[in-house]
Amino acid sequence: MITGKTSLVGVIGDPVKHSLSPLMHNAAFFELGLDYVYIPFRVAKQDLKTAINGAQSLNLKGLNVTIPHKIRIIKYIDELDRLSELIGAVNTLKFENNLIKGYNTDGTGLIRALEEFTQIKDKKIIITGAGGAARAAAYQTLIEKAGSLVIANRTLDNAISLQEDIINDLGSDVKVIGLDSKLQNELKDADILIDTTPIGMYPNINEKPVVSAEDMHSDLIVFDMVYNPLKTSLLKEAENAGAKPVSGIKMLIYQGIESFQIWTGIRPTYKSFENGLKGVL
Ligand SMILES: NC(=O)c1ccc[n+]([C@@H]2O[C@H](COP(=O)([O-])OP(=O)(O)OC[C@H]3O[C@@H](n4cnc5c(N)ncnc54)[C@H](OP(=O)(O)O)[C@@H]3O)[C@@H](O)[C@H]2O)c1
Repeated sequence: MITGKTSLVGVIGDPVKHSLSPLMHNAAFFELGLDYVYIPFRVAKQDLKTAINGAQSLNLKGLNVTIPHKIRIIKYIDELDRLSELIGAVNTLKFENNLIKGYNTDGTGLIRALEEFTQIKDKKIIITGAGGAARAAAYQTLIEKAGSLVIANRTLDNAISLQEDIINDLGSDVKVIGLDSKLQNELKDADILIDTTPIGMYPNINEKPVVSAEDMHSDLIVFDMVYNPLKTSLLKEAENAGAKPVSGIKMLIYQGIESFQIWTGIRPTYKSFENGLKGVL
């Protein structure tokens, strides 16, 4: 029951109609008996500043931030954690002591998802795509001491600009290539492929994936950030190759768990978040 004592959290984005986060967080609040409620707020680009001021005045405890606000939100934040500062994007806000604190839990969510299958340390990782999600994946895997990193992107210049940022921020060596035959070569001795392109996302579920089965080996872990559908065209290829497919839904769940802990200080179980998604996946 919502009372005068209930704490409010939520997500701001545009659109937010299809967000799965309210289902995950509210299921976990219920299971843990926490007096919190998670609400989706559709906030248009031009309303971001007033929305943040309003959220603070209304004493919200925290917010998730999604498309299109993840980068622009930074100018309204008082304190950024190291990761969101490096990545240049925020997906979680905490309102505390009159301050707005910003975090990025996407990278940690990805690592937790991958760690169910492998360690990151010393592994050769290939990231396809060079947008916001690729940035989080690249910084976080390098922080976890990946052995080597290759970024393969349709627009080479975008990959090069990410490479330059990484060299400046972390001093790490990163190779960049196009989405072409060089990618097939690099895959031969790769340990993990992380696809951050939206290829195969609903409704384009039959779109040709970045890599097909014949270019994969059976020890390869193939992670697709797209989680709708759960089994994307890329993950089907991984299955056909006898490789290990990992769905982006795991990252979604883990990044949510991290946000939940930032707000409440309590770490919910994976199961409690997964239970919230029953019936929609
Ligand atoms: N599972 C999760 O928890 C989670 C979290 C965050 C994001 N995601 C998903 O990750 C995906 C990427 O998000 P983002 O924020 O990084 O998006 P973004 O900033 O728009 O970047 C998209 C990247 O994909 C590339 N790309 C787009 N369409 C392509 C195509 N048809 N063929 C080849 N490359 C293409 C773009 O290449 P160019 O540089 O050439 O334009 C760009 O590098 C989305 O599907 C998002 O829903 C999932």
